Amino acid sequence: MNGPLTILGIETSCDETAAAVVRRVGPDRPGEILSNAVFSQIEEHAPFGGVVPEIAARAHVEHLDGLISRAMKDAKVGWDDLDGIAATAGPGLIGGVIVGLMTAKGLAAARGLPFMAVNHLEGHALTARMTDALPFPYLLLLVSGGHSQLLVVEGIGRYRRLGTTIDDAVGEAFDKVAKLLGLGYPGGPAVERAAQDGDATRFPLPRPMTGRPGCDFSFSGLKTAVRQLSDGLGTLSEQDKADIAASFQAAVADVLGDRCENAMALASDIIPPGHRRLVVAGGVAANMLLRERLMVSAHAFGYEFVVPPLKLCTDTGAMIAWAGAERLALGLTDPIDTGPRARWPLDPDAAPARGAGVKA
Ligand code: KG4
Ligand code: ZN
Repeated sequence: MNGPLTILGIETSCDETAAAVVRRVGPDRPGEILSNAVFSQIEEHAPFGGVVPEIAARAHVEHLDGLISRAMKDAKVGWDDLDGIAATAGPGLIGGVIVGLMTAKGLAAARGLPFMAVNHLEGHALTARMTDALPFPYLLLLVSGGHSQLLVVEGIGRYRRLGTTIDDAVGEAFDKVAKLLGLGYPGGPAVERAAQDGDATRFPLPRPMTGRPGCDFSFSGLKTAVRQLSDGLGTLSEQDKADIAASFQAAVADVLGDRCENAMALASDIIPPGHRRLVVAGGVAANMLLRERLMVSAHAFGYEFVVPPLKLCTDTGAMIAWAGAERLALGLTDPIDTGPRARWPLDPDAAPARGAGVKA
């Protein structure tokens, strides 16, 4: 299908309830985001210092219908204008995934529209095609709350994994460090804010895996080093917290830079010269220091650096609608009995990583 496609996308796999309408104009063209309604459940989870799955699922139930109505209204489209409905079917917190998936399947059945069950990670992976009309293949660093992976994106549903985390995901490390320093939830933006006033050279933290061959990551040693450091300092002043946050962030930037450099060297055998692009996606891609550091690495290796605008780094319905549109354009629709999946690796031969599937 090469004509324009207008898709409603629904995302409920973690702590954002989101619905959006996106139009795929045609092949090799950026997508048009007609609406992008997001309800962030920060206030619901903040008292607990992290996402509580049961609270998340209930909040999705409460807010999703209203968000879908808003997305349709903002987009100025009616049900007859839609070509299909897409929802995240995993990976993620299963209670939340069920809410979005069931809603989307119900709407698709009632309206007689094609239904697309979208892998949340594919939503992040394809966002750069919506924003920048990127051709395949490209190198992708996917860094979110539950996943850290380096992949060659070869096509829709075609991912070749070069590396992954052997323990914690990057976003998870940010969230744990934020908790440890009492910076609150969500952790990534809190650490970034604190780090602005910090001295990144005050604490020489480890840079796990750097200098080694391959593209795998490890963050649990870094997290433990931060814990030992803060325990050793006793009561932390605001300056201590800022310096630890900045030192941690600098260590993460060095690790990701080193791993991406290995991936770019490896991928140069797979990705032809005109296609050498490093794309960074997922919530952690919102971090400014990381964006700057990875841009330097990309340019040093002759890669173009592509990162979505800030509001499209974290979870949105737009990324799910776009992935749904890409799938529908290829005729890839899903049956109405498609089930939710807590785990769902992008590359079929992936070994399950510890902690994967807890957050998408
Ligand atoms: O992709 P995302 O919104 O949700 C998942 O699919 O997990 O990513 C959320 C993760 C969280 O761990 C959050 O702390 C992290 O992304 N994050 C950041 C920043 N903004 C969000 N990490 C570092 N710096 C940020 N500015
Ligand atoms: Zn995500």
